[in-house]
Amino acid sequence: MWYNTKATEILGIDFPIMQGPFGGGLSTVELVATVSNAGGLGGYGAYMLSAEEIFETNKKIKASTNKPYNINLWVSDTDAPSGAVTDEQFDNAAKIFKPYFDEAGIPLPEKPAPFRSRFENQVQSILDIRPPVFSFVFGIPSPDVLTQCRKLGIKTIGAATTLDEGIVLESAGVDMIIGSGFEAGGHRPSFLSPAEKSTTGTFVLLQLLKEKLKTPIIAAGGIANGRGVAAAMMLGAEAAQVGTAFLACDESGALPAHRKMLFSEASKYTMLSRVFTGRLGRGISSRLATDLIGKEKHFLPFPLQTTFMSSLRKAALDQQKWDMVLFWGGQIAPILKHKKASELMQSIIEEASAIMDS
Ligand SMILES: Cc1cc2nc3c(=O)[nH]c(=O)nc-3n(C[C@H](O)[C@H](O)[C@H](O)COP(=O)(O)O)c2cc1C
Repeated sequence: MWYNTKATEILGIDFPIMQGPFGGGLSTVELVATVSNAGGLGGYGAYMLSAEEIFETNKKIKASTNKPYNINLWVSDTDAPSGAVTDEQFDNAAKIFKPYFDEAGIPLPEKPAPFRSRFENQVQSILDIRPPVFSFVFGIPSPDVLTQCRKLGIKTIGAATTLDEGIVLESAGVDMIIGSGFEAGGHRPSFLSPAEKSTTGTFVLLQLLKEKLKTPIIAAGGIANGRGVAAAMMLGAEAAQVGTAFLACDESGALPAHRKMLFSEASKYTMLSRVFTGRLGRGISSRLATDLIGKEKHFLPFPLQTTFMSSLRKAALDQQKWDMVLFWGGQIAPILKHKKASELMQSIIEEASAIMDS
């Protein structure tokens, strides 16, 4: 059967469909459990959680499903040297953003406090709780961590946005590699070259990785239905990771306004921008991001730009100034149909089966 692949064997799941993990509070236990219980692999984006919160979340997931699931972290979670910015950097950013804070009628925030990477503590919690699958982006954990995962029976999945990243992930010995095309919603998780220079589309990246590597490949970016899954598998993917289509479902942590935007005409226009977090990510085009094209050197490094912008986001949401809010989403959004994750899963499986079995 088309759905018995190396990925389903390695991951111990029924269908080669992964729900893309979402960072930034957009993952939910309910979504993870719904997808895993339907035979796919639910994924929880935990990069903003403390070790204790990961522990608690894992307990809740285990109470909601006895099927395999994935917990996801960011290996590199800051671009600020020593976690801080200088007064000059902050003043420059403040100058650029002041008109938007004025428009929202709120004061500019204070300079963000220095940020300390959370990855070391988070990854220790992964080793302690032993989720069936640990996926990661923005780099590769140390050889020691990967060896421990192997010993503990935790399957590892790294993400590549270029062939070079795929090659180094393979040498590190991960179990599977996600080829993440630039169509995808959310951050572009590049770690060798700048994200702006790592913009290969999913189906080219997939074929390059398939041709040059032995590690099983998972296709991500622009896949939202059974036809997309079938196409990825025809090109050599062992599974597909679907993000935006699950983000739009009621079970995700997205705000109602966000889900509404994903189903609206506005979703025809997406763009990659660093304006909201300091790292390059794809969301529905907004006035704020469009206005500030070319001003990137004034933005604060990730994640300090996020802390700087969070009060603006809150005020813009309260005032329904949608053109100042980043609604994450990928290029495939205009074809989305389903609002229930179980219906989306069923529809993907039925459509892919009709195509692959004919
Ligand atoms: C809002 C949002 C947040 C995301 N956060 C993460 C994350 O923290 N870790 C990760 O590995 N992938 C993350 N992704 C990527 C998805 O897991 C998935 O690979 C991607 O959405 C697939 O492309 P698609 O959106 O075209 O379906 C995120 C995607 C979105 C839309």
